[in-house]
Amino acid sequence: MIGVDIVDLSRIDPEDAAFVRHLLTPAEQEEFHARKSAHRKTEYLGGRFAAKEAIFKATGDQMFLSYSILTEVSGKPYVKDHPELDVSISHDGGFAIAAVLCLKPQKGLAK
Ligand SMILES: CC(C)(COP(=O)(O)OP(=O)(O)OC[C@H]1O[C@@H](n2cnc3c(N)ncnc32)[C@H](O)[C@@H]1OP(=O)(O)O)[C@@H](O)C(=O)NCCC(=O)NCCS
Repeated sequence: MIGVDIVDLSRIDPEDAAFVRHLLTPAEQEEFHARKSAHRKTEYLGGRFAAKEAIFKATGDQMFLSYSILTEVSGKPYVKDHPELDVSISHDGGFAIAAVLCLKPQKGLAK
């Protein structure tokens, strides 16, 4: 299965601490706080928001907020503890977009 999502970055406030804690796992919050500028923080939040919605679309898992989308040394994002999920994120022109490919079939669904 595949999932995609797009987020309007004007809806994202990197100063909203409650939103940050709601959206990001503790490991993601560490990466978020390491981003230096408000712009990069907004992109990070928007990208993770889009990626988590894309995980829901690809997997059907209601616990999509609990997935940790972390960053390899190269900058490439990956979903911690979920090698069956492949994620890609991009941001430009005030939007973040993410695509997730799930290499495992969803349970209980006809194809
Ligand atoms: C990695 C690269 C593809 C990012 O592209 P970009 O247009 O600058 O930025 P985008 O907004 O599309 O993508 C940024 C996201 O890409 C992802 N990313 C970063 N490095 C990555 C990598 N090595 N592999 C896969 N994804 C990567 C990240 O999720 C990042 O967002 P985040 O840091 O908020 O999580 C780019 O910097 C690069 O190295 N390109 C190599 C090819 C090149 O030099 N092209 C220029 C001439 S065509």
